[in-house]
Parts: sequence; C-alpha cells; structure tokens
Amino acid sequence: MQLVLVRTVTGLEHLAAEELAVAGHRVVEVGKRQLVVEPATESITESPPRLADDLFVVYAAIADPGCTKAALTGASDALRRGLESPADRGAFAVSASCVGVRNFNRYDVEDLVGERLSHLTGGRYHSRRHGITPPEERSEWRVVLDGKTMWLGLRPYAVPLHRREWRQHTVRGSLHPPVAAAMARLAAIAPGHDVVDPFCGAGTLLLEAHLLAPTATYVGLDRDPAAIEAARTNGSRTSVSWCVGDARQLSVPADRIITNPPWDVRLPIGDLTPYTRRWRQSLHPNGLLITILNHHQTSHLTTNWTIHAQHNITIAGRHPQIVVADPR
Ligand SMILES: C[S@@+](CC[C@H](N)C(=O)[O-])C[C@H]1O[C@@H](n2cnc3c(N)ncnc32)[C@H](O)[C@@H]1O
Repeated sequence: MQLVLVRTVTGLEHLAAEELAVAGHRVVEVGKRQLVVEPATESITESPPRLADDLFVVYAAIADPGCTKAALTGASDALRRGLESPADRGAFAVSASCVGVRNFNRYDVEDLVGERLSHLTGGRYHSRRHGITPPEERSEWRVVLDGKTMWLGLRPYAVPLHRREWRQHTVRGSLHPPVAAAMARLAAIAPGHDVVDPFCGAGTLLLEAHLLAPTATYVGLDRDPAAIEAARTNGSRTSVSWCVGDARQLSVPADRIITNPPWDVRLPIGDLTPYTRRWRQSLHPNGLLITILNHHQTSHLTTNWTIHAQHNITIAGRHPQIVVADPR
C-alpha cells in the first residue's frame, strides 16, 4: 500500500496520530500539520480519519531541494522522472506548502510541478497564481517541502476531507469540523451519555460527536434562532435535539458538556463566570467539560475545575486551547 500524507490542524497532530493508530494504521512520521502514514488497508480512503483536514496518496518523495529556485527546478524534474504516468488526463491543480525561508514562493512550486505533470499526463493544469479558482471538477495534487523531503501526493477524493457532507450551513464563529472531531474524541462519550452544547451555533460539535457515538443523547442550545435553524438543517438526519435558549439558564443535566463559547473577538460574550457556574451545576458526578477557549478565558477554569488536558491549536490565525476539565 502506498504511503499517505494526512494533513491536519496545528496542534492536533498527535491526536490525529492516535486516531490513525487506533484504526490500525502505522504512523511513520509526525510533523507540523502533517503525518506520514502507512495505511493498514485501503480502508483509510474509505473511512478516512476525522481529525484530518485532507489526505493525499504519495506518488513521489525526494530530498527537499533547499532554498534556491534552481534547486527547486531540478527537484521538479527529478520528481517527474520518478513518476509513473498517472492515468488522469483531465483538469488538475496543485497546491504547495514549504517550511522555512525559501527564495521562491508556493506559486513557483505549484507552477513548476504543474507544468511537469501536465507534460507527463496530458492533463490541463490550472494555476492559482493569479487568483483564478480552478474548476470544481478536477484532481488536486499536493506538494509539501517539509525541510527534509519534497512530497508529491494526489487527493483520492473530489473535495478536501474537512468539507463535511452534513454541513449545509454555518454561523459566524462556526468551528472547523476536524477540531470538533478532536473534541468529540477527547470527550470519550459512552452509550447512554447525555451530551449538551449550550453554545451550539450550527451544530458542528454535536454532529461530529454524534457520528462518533451515535447512541448517546444530544441536546444543543443557542440563543440565536437562526443558528438553531442552521443546526436543525445540518442535523436533519440525526436525533439531536436543538432549542433556542440562553446558556445562563442551562438546566439540562449532562455527562458531557462539549462547547465552543464565543471568544470575545468576532462574537462578544464578556465574563464567562455565569456560564462556567452553570456548567458546574449541570454536570453529573464524573461528568466532563470539553471546551475550546481563548487563553484569557481558560483562566476561568483554574479555580473550581480540575484540568485533565490542554491542547494549544492554531486555527484561522488564532491560538485557542481545547480544555478537558471536571468540576472539583
Ligand atoms: C462560537 S459560536 C458557536 C459555533 C458552533 N460551535 C458552530 O460550529 O457553529 C457561539 C455561539 O454562541 C451563541 N451564544 C452567544 N451567547 C449566548 C448565550 N448567552 N446563550 C446561548 N447562546 C449564546 C451565539 O449565537 C453563537 O451561535
């Protein structure tokens, strides 16, 4: 079986590695935002990791050429020579990322590799250099220069893994689904658990948790009727209950509270104390809180809560923390 590159969110690499290992795959390397994986079977493409942003089947890997454009050109030629002609002759695009300082940019990498792939396959390369979005119907190649290796992979799906089939609507502040999937895993939800999200927005956390543990009971609350409408549509194939209400009046007993309150940046929330007090009152004995907060908000959990785990992540230029805690 060919190696695969699993791309994930900064800070979720080790949780994604754990998810893959539990599914029986061998994680060969854990890097920044990327795992190199030797899959147990082709099941990795049929039931892909939910913490992954994206996944690419590796077609070639050579030494990272370093920082000059001349070396990059040579490496692109070497990549092409090492590649058997992939069958697809249709439209394709290439996206690239590099770590470290380089004398070239991502578009230089994309165009060099794209032109060579085009010669090799006869396919139509669509450059992103001038801001033109490639056609929907296309194959997507990925080049990663990670400081050690120059990887070339092909996405075996039409769309990236983070784009979920259930997600038709989002609200302001909606969570990136792989982050929600990571929080759902950390929640260790058991059959029969009562799981509540008092700031449910469009329902991302509960819908990802429901996919992982479908026999628990889920209730989502949001004060915005438009958010509840969005969550209802997104969750129309599930038994999750959604209701309009204020999180300060939360009265649903819970084994797990899994929630993403506003971070006081795009959406205001102010003092979290009335909410954390409610969370403490609602959680059953042995209950757990799994939340994602900004650093300032996390200080609200330093008294009266026992923090079991903290994961610093980077998402959309922000640096929140996923916190797992129980009321002392
Ligand atoms: C960061 S968003 C949650 C996004 C959600 N996780 C998703 O993926 O769509 C926070 C949500 O909290 C809601 N909210 C803010 N204050 C609230 C309150 N006092 N009670 C209930 N919901 C509230 C907002 O309407 C918003 O939908």
